[in-house]
Amino acid sequence: LSPDEFQRRLMAWFDEYGRKTLPWQHDTTPYRVWVSEIMLQQTQVATVIPYYERFMERFPDVHALAGASQDEVLHLWTGLGYYARGRNLHKAAQVVVNEYDGEFPVQSVDAMAALPGIGRSTAGAIISISTGERAVILDGNVKRVLTRLHAVEGWPGRPKIERPLWALAERYTPHERLPDHTQAMMDLGATLCRRGSPSCLLCPFEDVCLAHARGQEKRFPESKPK
Ligand code: ADE
Repeated sequence: LSPDEFQRRLMAWFDEYGRKTLPWQHDTTPYRVWVSEIMLQQTQVATVIPYYERFMERFPDVHALAGASQDEVLHLWTGLGYYARGRNLHKAAQVVVNEYDGEFPVQSVDAMAALPGIGRSTAGAIISISTGERAVILDGNVKRVLTRLHAVEGWPGRPKIERPLWALAERYTPHERLPDHTQAMMDLGATLCRRGSPSCLLCPFEDVCLAHARGQEKRFPESKPK
C-alpha cells in the first residue's frame, strides 16, 4: 500500500467517522493538547472529558499550572489513576515556565521528549496536532494498527521490533493534514482496530491487512514475553 493511498483512505474514513468535537480539539494550543494527551495515555476518552474540563477551568494555561501546589494538581487528578502522570504534568509545567519562558519547545521533538512524562510518541502527537508540522507518532493504538496491517511478529516493546514500526509509522506519515492524520491513526486504533473483537468489516484497510487476510487479528500485537 503506497503512502499516498494509505493517506487517501485514512482521510476519507476520518472525514466520515473521526472524532472532531472533543474538548481538546478546539483551540489546539500546545498546552491544551499536551494536557489531553497525558490524560488520554492510559484512560479512555469518555472518562477523560469531565476531568479535562475541570482541569482547564482551574489551570487555563501553563503559568497557572506551574504556580499551583502539587496537592492541588493531584486533587484534580483524583479518580484518573496513574498519579505519576499528574506529578510529571506539574513538573513539566514548571520546566516550561522556568526554562522556556512559558512556551513549549514544539520546534524540537527531542526537547519535547525531554520534558517529564513526555515520550517520543506523545511529543510527536503534541507537535503534529498543535502546529501541523510533520511529526511521527507510535503509541499503543498505532502499534496495534501497524502490527496487524503488516503482520509484524514479536512484542512491539522490544527495540528490535519497535525500530521497524517507527520506520513504518514514518513512511505512512503524510506531508499535509498532520493534525487529522495523528487523530485518525489514534481513532482507528481506539474505535475499530481494538485489541478484542476489532471491527474489520468497517476498516478502510480490510482488503490489505495481512493479519486479517490470515484470520489472525487477535495474534497482533504480541504481548510481552515472560
Ligand atoms: N489516546 C491518546 N491520545 C489520543 C487522542 N488524541 N485521541 C484518542 N485517543 C488517544
